Order: sequence, then structure tokens, then C-alpha cells
Amino acid sequence: MKLSDRMIRMQPSATSLMAAKAREKKRLGLDVISFATGEPDYDSPKGALEAAEKAMEEGQTHYPPTNGIVPLREAIAAYYGEHFGLKYDPTKEIVVGTGAKQLIYEALGALVNPGDEVIVLPPAWVSYVEQIRLFDGVPVEVDTADTGFIPDLQKIEEAITPRTVAIIINSPNNPTGAVYPAELLEGLARLAMKKDILVINDEVYERLVFDRDKSPQMVKLCPEARDHVLNVNGVSKAFAMTGWRIGYALGPAVLVKAISDFQGHLTSGTSTISQWASAGALLASQEDCEKMREGFRTRRDLIIELLSDIKGIRFVPPQGAFYVFIDVSSYLGGKAKIMLENDVVFCEELLERKNVSMVPGTAFLSPGSVRISYSCPEKDIREGVRRFREFLEEIRAE
Ligand SMILES: Cc1ncc(COP(=O)(O)O)c(C=O)c1O
Repeated sequence: MKLSDRMIRMQPSATSLMAAKAREKKRLGLDVISFATGEPDYDSPKGALEAAEKAMEEGQTHYPPTNGIVPLREAIAAYYGEHFGLKYDPTKEIVVGTGAKQLIYEALGALVNPGDEVIVLPPAWVSYVEQIRLFDGVPVEVDTADTGFIPDLQKIEEAITPRTVAIIINSPNNPTGAVYPAELLEGLARLAMKKDILVINDEVYERLVFDRDKSPQMVKLCPEARDHVLNVNGVSKAFAMTGWRIGYALGPAVLVKAISDFQGHLTSGTSTISQWASAGALLASQEDCEKMREGFRTRRDLIIELLSDIKGIRFVPPQGAFYVFIDVSSYLGGKAKIMLENDVVFCEELLERKNVSMVPGTAFLSPGSVRISYSCPEKDIREGVRRFREFLEEIRAE
């Protein structure tokens, strides 16, 4: 079997690899603490379950319209209206897909010709880069690590060339938990207009902000840039509905139509029952969403406190999502008692010795760090950090 060059080039997701290793250890009966998962540990809300049951009973089990069922597109429009004060036309400016992941892929497919450049801002979700490459595009990285994970507008402008077609931003951010300030979002929106490029605004963690009421919204801040922004969102993170696989995008009608046409050839639209469940969540489960946010806030405060006096690590306290990105470079490359060549080996050794799984920063184009997901019960957070601290104490060179 000869696979295509594209497939040979593609790196499997390191997030899934670590999660799989941890699962295998669990299966063998070991007491594993998983800090590797990228999903809320809460159950999907009642509003979603009831809407799904009703849809099944009513025989809503046929192909949906490719761009999504009308009640869901209307619920999304109502949500963006109420939550952000933005008006999107559900008939032509909103499309529903199989997770935010698929919508980003389709948006790239709609925009990228071979050789076109798309800017990404590491540490960044690794699927962006792989998806850009699947269309023979060129990811251009503008690192944010030396500016506290808040991108530098000047550096971004310098990275834009005549081949640049888009920039992908993600706030609140996976893996850093950074929330981009309003001035930066507005500046980015203006830059996109000036250079005539599209911002793929991945705001899937938008409900999970802890130090403010709402996540700043780019189009709200700069309505003139509306035609240069595709907002990508979904129910996975906000409503703990990862398995339902529903994401959505709001943006310029031409792009939304292209995305919809594209998925017409890929999936014929996404699961009808999941779409009804998502409409149920958006319309009836806003309170559950807020409760989850409170739960994550408490855990965020706890993990910051537990990590704060561990020697040799550095992190920027996260303001959103459910991750902390920790610089462990002072333990790598021969600086510890044992040789840990890089962050990948660090995570493997931590899992091996202490049964704690984390995701290496390399999976986010940012070697030298590890990502903790604190989407787990408080007692696991305490025990997992205790083991992490113990591991570091054992390997620390005096
Ligand atoms: C930054 C980011 N964008 C998009 C997604 C995909 O979400 P969905 O479940 O809607 O495909 C994830 C999931 O981990 C994510 O972390």
C-alpha cells in the first residue's frame, strides 16, 4: 500500500497519543491521573438530552440540510444576538458542521491554494498546522511565548506576505489559557481589513473565561471587519457535548456557502439528532453552562495555588479554557539528574514513574513545556500535582 505524500507528511495528534497511553495504563488497573484530556468532565446538560430524545421520538432521523437544521441555525443566531449583540442571518451567514474542527478544515479548504500562507500563533492547537498542510498551504508561525502568550501585532504584520490568505487565532487559548485583550482583537481585525486577509476566529472556549464576565468578541469590537472574520464555535466545550460533534461558524455569506457546499461532499451535514440536542442546549441550558464555568474557575484557582511554589517551573496564570501551560525546560536536556531529552520524553517518564499523563508542548509547536488539563475532579488535581511535584523533586539536580 502506498499512501499519499500528504498522509505521509501528516503527524498523528500527540494529544490523542498521550490520552491513549494513559487509557492503556488504566485498563491494566493502574491508578492513572489524566491531565491530558481536552474535554470537560461534566455530563451534557438535560436540555440537550431531552431535545435529543424528543427528536428521536418524532422521527428526526433523516439527512439534515447540509448547512444545518433551521432551529439550530436560529438558536445560534439568537445566542450570538443575546450574548454578543451581533446579528447574523441564519439563512446564509451560519453553517453547522461536525465539530469546530471540521469547520476550520472546510474554511481552509475554501481559502487556501497550494503555496498560500496561513499564520498560526504557537503555542497553538496542532490540528491547525496539519489542516493547512492538507491543502498544500504553508503554515507561518508567529510565536507568542516571549510575550506572555499574547500575540504581538507588529510581529504578525511583519509575517504577512502577498501569499497570506488567513490567520487563525484562538482565545481563550488551548493550550495556554490566555484570553486576548480587546485592544489586540480590535487591532487584529483592523490588520485583517488592511491586508485583506481572513481571521479564522476559533472561539470554542469563549464561555470559559474566569476573570471577566464575557470573552471579548472581535466583530463586536470592530464591526467594520465583519467580512474579514469567520467566528468558529460549538457546543463541545461550552456545554460538555464533545461526543455529539457539533460545531458552527458565522461569517460572510460567500464563505459560509463554500463551507456548506464543501461539507455537502464530505458528510451531507452532521447528525440530525445531535443538531436537535445542540439547539436544546443553546436554548435551555445556559444555566448549566454557567455552573460549569464556576466549577472550572474554582479548579483554576486551586491548580494555580498548588503549582505556585513548585521549583523550576514557570507558567502564566490562565484566564480561560481549562489548561495551564508549564515551562519545564529547566529539567530538560541534561539539566536534571536523569537525561530527559525533551518535553515528549519528560511526559513519558512522568507517566511511567508517577502515572500522571500530560501533553508535551511539542504537540502545540512549543517544545520545552507541558500542558495540564484541569478538567478533572478536585481530588485528582491535588493528587496529580502532588505526584508531579514529587517527580520533579526526585529528578532535580541539586
Ligand atoms: C482550540 C480548539 N479548537 C477547536 C477544537 C475542536 O472542537 P470540536 O469538538 O468542536 O471539534 C478544540 C478541541 O479540542 C480546540 O481545543
